[in-house]
Amino acid sequence: MRSYRAAPSLAVSGAIAVPGDKSVSHRSLLVAAIATGTSEVSGFLPSEDCLASLAAMRALGVHIEQASATQLRVRGVGLRGLKAATHALDMGNAGTAMRLFAGLLSAQTFDSRLIGDASLMRRPMERVARPLREMGADLRTQGGCPPIDIHGGAILHGIEYLLPIASAQVKSALLLAGLYAEGPTTVNSPAPSRDHSERMLRFFGADLTVERLSVRLTPPRELHGQRVEVPGDFSSAAFFIVAGLLAAVPAGLVIRNVGMNPTRTGLLDILRRMGGQIEVMNLRDGAAEPVADLMVRRSHLRGIEVPRDLVALSIDEFPVLFVAAACAEGETLVSGAEELRVKESDRIAVMSAGLRALGVGHESYPDGLRIEGRAAGAAFSAGEVESGGDHRVAMSFSIASLRASGPIIIRDVANVATSFPGYVLLARAAGLDLNET
Ligand code: S3P
Repeated sequence: MRSYRAAPSLAVSGAIAVPGDKSVSHRSLLVAAIATGTSEVSGFLPSEDCLASLAAMRALGVHIEQASATQLRVRGVGLRGLKAATHALDMGNAGTAMRLFAGLLSAQTFDSRLIGDASLMRRPMERVARPLREMGADLRTQGGCPPIDIHGGAILHGIEYLLPIASAQVKSALLLAGLYAEGPTTVNSPAPSRDHSERMLRFFGADLTVERLSVRLTPPRELHGQRVEVPGDFSSAAFFIVAGLLAAVPAGLVIRNVGMNPTRTGLLDILRRMGGQIEVMNLRDGAAEPVADLMVRRSHLRGIEVPRDLVALSIDEFPVLFVAAACAEGETLVSGAEELRVKESDRIAVMSAGLRALGVGHESYPDGLRIEGRAAGAAFSAGEVESGGDHRVAMSFSIASLRASGPIIIRDVANVATSFPGYVLLARAAGLDLNET
């Protein structure tokens, strides 16, 4: 089992760029594959999760050339051109891929089976299966979890659906199925969630209207191939944003070309409320998504109560926010984040165990954590933590080393490759003392 050894380092500085956005990379493949004509995708994230989507699309008969790791040419087969795969589609660790493919494949004329790794096989899938059945789809889960078996040939009809939780994956699955339905599909959300699918579908020519928390899709005759530029992943940048804030020297860290979709950047609001100095520079419109460069400076952080309306907008960033909170003056309280229990790991339980191992005072709740921060000196003791096989937990504890009294050993880090290939090299380039063993 692979581990990290993260030792305290003084200097986090310079200028870096993080790899492409995972959510946007998945969507670029899914939508380009069913468009008419060829799409060019640049900045694609060649991580295990996105490569699982790519392999699945190839298995469904889509020709995809990978000119380089990050450049794809997708020859779209049109809305009705996908072909049955000869085997189960293995989504690896990727919950997004499984749920989005479930939506798309529910509307095809052929049968499909979706499987994944041990973590994904334990994750809840009825949240997509139930509304898809309401649309007329014929699909089965096993006790609510994968495998998902889809019986093709169903005639789908549009529905109006109120999401029980603010989930972009469920919303996206319904919109993808809605492309094939009779009549419009409307998805209403209890709170905002990332809107990459809405942007991507509209970019490819779909008729989609958004009114506050409601999205309405009218089935298109066809989608049209496009040039997609995938921005840097804000969730990957998050580790370096926190690293820049915790740095021992005030030099500042620049992170270039970061996706700034407002439904993703809740962490910026939270960290700024905590006193974090983060400057957004060169904010510009990318193809379907806004991007900017970020300048992060060493900051004195103060604990806060995280507003509940920022939870869905920063849902993947809580592991690294907990690290920042441990280095802040006073207490930080996160609540309303029960979804963390059903991510790649139970992120409340796994982070709580790691914080305990590193001497951070905290209390965990069904829906969050309360963390006692220590702003002066070392917030973390040296020690050993388990990642729970969770990429974001592994990277978060590597950032904790910046305020640790000695090295932190992080066990089970292979899954960092699911979202962030090249993490160790980039972290070292930014000044972290990080080694993989
Ligand atoms: C994602 C949506 C979020 C997020 C996940 C990626 C997406 O999940 O946690 O990492 O790309 O749609 P939920 O939709 O379950 O909140």
